[in-house]
Amino acid sequence: MAAPQTFSLLAIALSLLALASTVHSHNITQILADNPEYSSFNSYLSQTKLADEINSRSTITLLVLNNGAMASLAGKHPLSVIKNALSLLVLLDYYDPQKLHKISDGTVLTTTLYQTTGNAPGNLGFVNITDLKGGKVGFGSAASGSKLDSSYTKSVKQIPYNISVLEIDAPIISPGLLTAPAPSAAVSNITGLLEKAGCKTFAGLLVSSGVLKTYESTIEKGLTVFAPNDEAFKDDDVPDLTKLTQAEVVSLLEYHALAEYKPKGSLKTNKNKISTLATNGAGKYDLTTSTSGDEVVLHTGIAPSRLADTVLDATPVVIFTVDKVLLPPELFGNATSPAPAPAPVTAPTPSPAEGPSPTAASPPAPPTDESPESSPSDSPVGSANSKSANAAVAVSSPSLFTALVTLVAIAVSVSL
Ligand SMILES: *[C@@H]1O[C@H](CO)[C@@H](O)[C@H](O)[C@H]1NC(C)=O
Ligand SMILES: *[C@@H]1O[C@H](CO)[C@@H](O)[C@H](O)[C@H]1NC(C)=O
Ligand SMILES: *[C@@H]1O[C@H](CO)[C@@H](O)[C@H](O)[C@H]1NC(C)=O
Ligand SMILES: *[C@@H]1O[C@H](CO)[C@@H](O)[C@H](O)[C@H]1NC(C)=O
Ligand SMILES: *[C@@H]1O[C@H](CO)[C@@H](O)[C@H](O)[C@H]1NC(C)=O
Repeated sequence: MAAPQTFSLLAIALSLLALASTVHSHNITQILADNPEYSSFNSYLSQTKLADEINSRSTITLLVLNNGAMASLAGKHPLSVIKNALSLLVLLDYYDPQKLHKISDGTVLTTTLYQTTGNAPGNLGFVNITDLKGGKVGFGSAASGSKLDSSYTKSVKQIPYNISVLEIDAPIISPGLLTAPAPSAAVSNITGLLEKAGCKTFAGLLVSSGVLKTYESTIEKGLTVFAPNDEAFKDDDVPDLTKLTQAEVVSLLEYHALAEYKPKGSLKTNKNKISTLATNGAGKYDLTTSTSGDEVVLHTGIAPSRLADTVLDATPVVIFTVDKVLLPPELFGNATSPAPAPAPVTAPTPSPAEGPSPTAASPPAPPTDESPESSPSDSPVGSANSKSANAAVAVSSPSLFTALVTLVAIAVSVSL
């Protein structure tokens, strides 16, 4: 009697493990690449990084437009507007063709990715699906008075119950969707946005150092900003910034931005080291990421920092707040190799490298074993970085392992 129980609990534990490892199982870019009639739609999914967001989720339905239907959007609006329009086509529920025809009462409102962005006023991020007479299924905005202007045409692909891809014949347009103000207005005042978001110290440093101009110079190509909030600068772990040289302050601030558009969905699916604006021949200044649920954590090799709010997501610019100042090992590690600046001959930093360890609930990006014996002058930096990468990758597995061990323990105790 005991043995079957043990067995089934083990089976549960193993299937949990299997589930966790297949979360990112679909690749929407790949799915649509098999169908050239969606090439325009697919290209916009990549440009807006919606592809990453879609790949990071399961139990979704993507309504796709063929190149003809996409023509009313493609090239006619700013990328940020097209991103909103396409976000409204990502339904956060699984609808295969059968389910479309089995909607209770024949009509339903369903949430979309657009609703989760904070860009959708009221219920404008919801879509109305209605099973019409004669087997037709209509789609429209949930805004009252909206028509069901889009119709289901065919099924493209289903991976039950991860993702369903269905073709519709026209975009779903909610009121105001296409006339949203161009983001250039908001983007032109980055410091204003930062101040409003509680990042006055950071904004002040960007202006006084001149690094704001560096940020602005990359806007067209893409810009991602990780802005520490004012509390973060008061943290005990933050070294005395007045002891840094001007060049080091510049590197520190440049370390808080990327010359590319990486919204949250892209950070969630990221597996690589990310280069920052500070990355150059004199230092790697890169970051790694880890994810747990909807949370994204940035790792510098010294201490983790959590992504807090999205202040602005207007393709190709995204601004986040983070809860810790990002400390690059190049400046604050125990690597004695000096920073790229010419000045810092005398130990420039009050070496807070050991400080960050008490960061309470943060995932352990173990800086403690940053081997003092690793020898050559500039290699400690590299080793610190690769360790942080390992830490980032490993973050999700310990909890899973714990769960597994717990289940096995339960199984064993049940069988006794
Ligand atoms: C998703 O897809 C994978 C592989 O296709 C499958 O193993 C898994 O059960 C599916 N469901 C979820 C929720 O990941
Ligand atoms: C998804 O597929 C595309 C096209 O085959 C490929 O370029 C891309 O690297 C894939 N993405 C992931 C996350 O595997
Ligand atoms: C969906 O739209 C149709 C047509 O405008 C309307 O009759 C129906 O009540 C709407 N469904 C919901 C759930 O609001
Ligand atoms: C930027 O925004 C801030 C805060 O909203 C405002 O005080 C400031 O006047 C704005 N600056 C410009 C140049 O628009
Ligand atoms: C830095 O490294 C040196 C030697 O490698 C060691 O003696 C010292 O304790 C370290 N300092 C900190 C703050 O870790």
